[in-house]
Amino acid sequence: MAEQVKKPLKITETVLRDAHQSLIATRMTTEQMLPIIDKMDKVGYHSVECWGGATFDASLRFLKEDPWERLRKLKDGFKNTKLQMLFRGQNILGYNHYSDDVVEYFVQKSIANGIDIIRIFDCFNDLRNLKTAVSAAKKEKGHAQIALSYTLGDAYTLDYWKETAKKIEDMGADSICIKDMAGLLVPYKATELVQALKDGSSLPIQMHTHYTSGVASMTYLKAVEAGADVIDTAMSPFSMGTSQPATEVMVETFKGTCYDTGLDQNLLAEIANYFQPMREEALKSGLMNTKVLGVNIKTLLYQVPGGMLSNLVSQLKEAGAEDKYQAVLEEIPRVRKDYGEPPLVTPSSQIVGTQAVLNVLQGERYKMITKESKKVLAGEFGQTVKPFNKEVQKKAIGDTKPITCRPADNIKPQLENFKKDPVVQQYAKQEEDVLSYALFPAVATEFFKYREAQTTKVDPKVADTQNKAYPV
Ligand code: CO
Repeated sequence: MAEQVKKPLKITETVLRDAHQSLIATRMTTEQMLPIIDKMDKVGYHSVECWGGATFDASLRFLKEDPWERLRKLKDGFKNTKLQMLFRGQNILGYNHYSDDVVEYFVQKSIANGIDIIRIFDCFNDLRNLKTAVSAAKKEKGHAQIALSYTLGDAYTLDYWKETAKKIEDMGADSICIKDMAGLLVPYKATELVQALKDGSSLPIQMHTHYTSGVASMTYLKAVEAGADVIDTAMSPFSMGTSQPATEVMVETFKGTCYDTGLDQNLLAEIANYFQPMREEALKSGLMNTKVLGVNIKTLLYQVPGGMLSNLVSQLKEAGAEDKYQAVLEEIPRVRKDYGEPPLVTPSSQIVGTQAVLNVLQGERYKMITKESKKVLAGEFGQTVKPFNKEVQKKAIGDTKPITCRPADNIKPQLENFKKDPVVQQYAKQEEDVLSYALFPAVATEFFKYREAQTTKVDPKVADTQNKAYPV
């Protein structure tokens, strides 16, 4: 290996986004982040993932923070490091499809407020749902990365991945990420997958996985040997379990090889020291549950992401049907098959999971069908790799003709209406507020009212209900 040409591995640090989303329900506050940014900025990371995903919703809903303000503060601190966000294609950061003008405006504002790299994905890997966001990012001179949601199934052959990589390059994206949200990619399969993507395109390849099933660091090793250029890791106090492999461990693994990252372990140790008490505090308060820290082999057996497993447990608990856990786990792959075998990632994971719970609790499959399931089967989320189960589709949408075009082609421009909305008219303090409202109308309205109450005279009664509405 020593004789090989040097090819330093690049690192994306996830502690400010995915790691705390995965381990402490996205509850890290801006105040907790700011004191360590100066040090993190000196590390020499390829990028720091710090925005998007669930952080936007969680900031508004639980932390009573303006996500745009957070982004601007992070940008102020990170003077030398690229900031990265996770973006759900035509869903932006929400759960429905939005019109192109809303997607474009969101991308524009994200980049204007400090984002350098936008990682864009679609829960069906339907590339049509990524096209508007990719073009918008390019137009704003941002780096557009397309993330492929990794999953298993008959349709997902190496040829499928290779062809998809080719299409991604043709779309004008700057890089490809393998997004393995459930930790399903095992080491030797990673070798083949990275090779397939490299055969299909000449774009840089980034690897993103979760430690849920216990194989993540081995998968990174094989992926890097196969030619992956960047890996996603998290500072050790927020690593492993349902989060990413530890940054320090991966840096040490490649030290002295042609992949040497060149990152300074002493500096990383200082950063880890900063996050360590936060971990201990979260464990003490129960915010970090030891259940998510170990190896969960069920994720490999049922191909279900860690976050979805914990949602499932709480849904069943609420219904007083915890004894149905096993039955639901077995129902999930069947529902997934009926829905054209999509990857299970937000929002498809919630849609498939909720329907599987209903199918089991009702004692009859598809006796009740959720609104979101109907949308999926009507083609409103796009195309899956395999066709839908015709019988189930018929049950869900009757004789309605499913759509086959790009779903957003049927959505009229929405931005002007959002701008004219009375809530936005009354409460908006910055241009970005219309986007917060477009994505999360109810949550944003509550936040706007809260913000208003902070700056004007606080009515103690209002403040009291607000505190109750936002348990942190
Ligand atoms: Co992730």
